[in-house]
This record gives sequence, C-alpha cells and structure tokens, in this order.
Amino acid sequence: MNKMLAFPKDFWWGSAWSAEQAEGRGETGKAETNWEHWFKTEPNRFYEGVGPEITTDHIHRYKEDIQLLKETGHNSFRISISWARMFPNGGVGEVNDKAISFYRDVLTELNKNDIKPFVNLFHFDMPYALEEKGGWTSREVVEAYVTFARTCFHEFGDLVYHWFTFNEPLGPILGGYLENFHYPNVVDFKKGAQAAFNTILAHAKAIKAFKELNLTSKIGVILNLSPTYPRSQNKQDLEAASIADAFYVRSFLDPMVKGTFPKKLVDILKNYNQMPSYEEVDLKIIAENTSQILGLNYYEPRRVQARLTKINEQGPFLPEWFFELHDMPGKRMNIYRGWEIYEKGIYDLCIDIRDNYDNIEAFISENGMGVANETRFMNNDNQVNDSYRIDFIKDHLAYVHKAIQEGCRIKGYHLWTFIDCWSWINAYKNRYGLVSLDLKSQERTIKKSGEFYKKMSLANGFEY
Ligand code: NOJ
Repeated sequence: MNKMLAFPKDFWWGSAWSAEQAEGRGETGKAETNWEHWFKTEPNRFYEGVGPEITTDHIHRYKEDIQLLKETGHNSFRISISWARMFPNGGVGEVNDKAISFYRDVLTELNKNDIKPFVNLFHFDMPYALEEKGGWTSREVVEAYVTFARTCFHEFGDLVYHWFTFNEPLGPILGGYLENFHYPNVVDFKKGAQAAFNTILAHAKAIKAFKELNLTSKIGVILNLSPTYPRSQNKQDLEAASIADAFYVRSFLDPMVKGTFPKKLVDILKNYNQMPSYEEVDLKIIAENTSQILGLNYYEPRRVQARLTKINEQGPFLPEWFFELHDMPGKRMNIYRGWEIYEKGIYDLCIDIRDNYDNIEAFISENGMGVANETRFMNNDNQVNDSYRIDFIKDHLAYVHKAIQEGCRIKGYHLWTFIDCWSWINAYKNRYGLVSLDLKSQERTIKKSGEFYKKMSLANGFEY
C-alpha cells in the first residue's frame, strides 16, 4: 500500500534557474557576456543556432512568471544576478541603476507572493571584458567579483533569503579548460587549476565581505557532486574511484565548506607540476570564510574503473589519465539524454555531507530531467503529459526523505527548472521545466509535473 511521505515543516519547495538562461538581454543596458560573445563568434556550436539573446524573456515577463511560480506551488525560488547587467561597463565601474531596480522588483514581487528568494551570484556568465583579462585565472577578476558581490549584498540584502557565491564552479573549469563546452573553450589543465583556485578564493572573499554586513540571511555555495562508484572492489578500481572523487567531488567541497584542500588532489597536482600559484594569506582567507549553507545539485552518478586503455602521454594533463568512466546497466530512459538515472545517488550524497561535513545545513539545489522533443508528449490542450518527470521527482524525493529520517539536515528541494530555459550550448534541446515554453510565441503552459508539484508542495509530501 502507498504511504504518505511527509516532509519537515517549512520545507523549501521550489526550483532554480539563472540570469543568462532565462532573462534575455532586455533594455536595462548590459555588458556583453562571455556566452553572448561565444555565440556571436561561433553560433554553430549552439543547438539549432539559438543563443542567449531572448531565452525565456523573463526580463519582460517576470510578473506573469511569478504568478506561475505560485500556480506551481513554489514557496522558494533561485535566481542568479547578471554581473554584466549590474556593471554594464565591462563588469567594473559604475553600477547600473536600471539593473538594481529590475532585481529589486523581482525580489519584492517574490516576497509579496510568499516565495523565498534564493540568490546566486555567479552562474557561468561573466562580462566578456573580464574574460579578456584572463577570466578566473586573473586576480583582477577575483577583485571585480568581490565588488560585484558586495554591491549585491548591499543593494538586495533586505530582500534575499539565502545567498550563494557560485553555482557549480566545477562546470566552467571542466568545460572551459578541459572539455570544450564552456567559454573560454581551451584545453589547458594548468590554467584550469589556476581558475579553480581563484574561484575558491573569490568565494571566500565574498563570504568575508558578506559577514561584514551582518545580514540575517546565510551564504554558501551550490555544488554538483556526483557520487563516485568503483566498478569493483579490487584495489585498482578503488584507487581510480578515489582519484575521481578527489577531482570531481572534494575539489571544491573541501575548501568551500571546510576551508581545506584534499591531500590526494594536492599530491597529484604537485607530482605532475600542475599546482596553481597563490599566496600564503589566500589559504588563511579560505580557511576562515567557509559556507554557512550548502546547495547540492544531483543529476547522475559517476561510475569509475581503473584505466584499461593506454593514453597519449603527450597530451595535456587530464584527470582521466588516472581512470576511465564506464556505464552500469542502470536505468537510462530513452527519452532522457543519456545520463544514468540512479535515485539512490542523492541519498548517498546527503549521507556523505552528514558524515564528513559536520552535517552542514543543506538542500537539494538542483535535480531534474532533461527531455528532448517533449512536444511528442503533448495532449490536445497543448499540455505536456510528463509522467516520467513526476516519477523521477518522486523517486529522488523518496531517497531525500529517507536521508532526512536518518538525520541529514536537508531543508528543501529545488527542481531544475521552472519554465523551460536555455541550456548553454544545448540551447533548448533538452527541456527540464515544470512549465513548457513555446519558443515562437513565448507562451507558457503548465505541464502535468507542474500540477503535481503544486499538490505535493501544498500537502508537504506525496503518496509513495
Ligand atoms: C546545471 C546548471 O546549473 C544549469 O545551468 C544547467 O542548465 C543544468 N545543470 C542542466 O544541465
């Protein structure tokens, strides 16, 4: 028989998206971003040649969208603030009053509707002028980011529920410096290591600035932490998995939550002469300014085995020198873009945080299902009947519920995403929303999952 899975009182039911993926350029004035620049120079890298110019046009439709948040049961919602909009002169200098009033309007409207605003500062989009200065490899950019962060705390601090310094900082490092799916789209491990270190430093410096303001909200970071599973328990596979874990899980988690660096990772970087440069005082700042709350993005597990094939020793230094990825015969829906669906991973992740990170207050900041050609599931009323997404949400939440029962301090669940939004080089290929978007008319229609989400939020749980 089905059982009601009830969640703790005041659980945060919500979703997330980001400025570059949802706002559209609008008329407030905005510096060119790295993504706009990349799109301008290489439009064919983007699915169906669609760039970030309009996206979900939230800048013009935020009032209507906030009503849709209500209609889909949100009591919380994550946005990000566009650095390029706030500082239209290349990310530095004069603050843009029009940007301030836009974000103040959005945040006020969210509060008026009893939707707690969660605000993230860096979600992959950087003013292009700062990329030209070296992006995250440059100290000057770190300082410009801290000014951007301080300005946001000052301008919006009275309206924001919780703050986050970065979303998935590993993404721009992997994609931008190793795997070619983010700007600056180069393959250079050493630069990537420097950019990663500077990101960690920027996080700590922003937290330091935040603490000086004595706001009542908390600040933390949002990390994508795919748990690592070795193919077997043999020594080589276990070692391969522990290296993958150091690179992909602990690399940002340890310094941003504990203020320390994982020894395994540091040893490997030293051995291969890939250490970033830093000053002693940086380590002190990182140690003293750690996250007060943690966002967990979970999509898929990382399956690892010891490297079987030879690799080209002449190539650039890559973590994959040490291991290979492999697939388990896990669930993998054909309508899904190919990532493995492994619900228990979300539970394992929560337990890891409980046991190894002092049970820091946390929430699921992203989890979701990207589906291509979702119009094929549309009924006669133009509504997407996404029962697969409802099952996906329930199956993951059942494990979150179990983790909470076992003492994890998980305070909420945010789905990726609210209305279908633009997904970087994949543009609108995979749809993730509770609400579908007609790209031509910008018409929004609540999917079946959006109706389910509201019911679940009102009941503070669901039958399972
Ligand atoms: C992670 C990122 O935060 C977001 O920007 C992206 O679109 C989703 N995952 C889906 O891939």
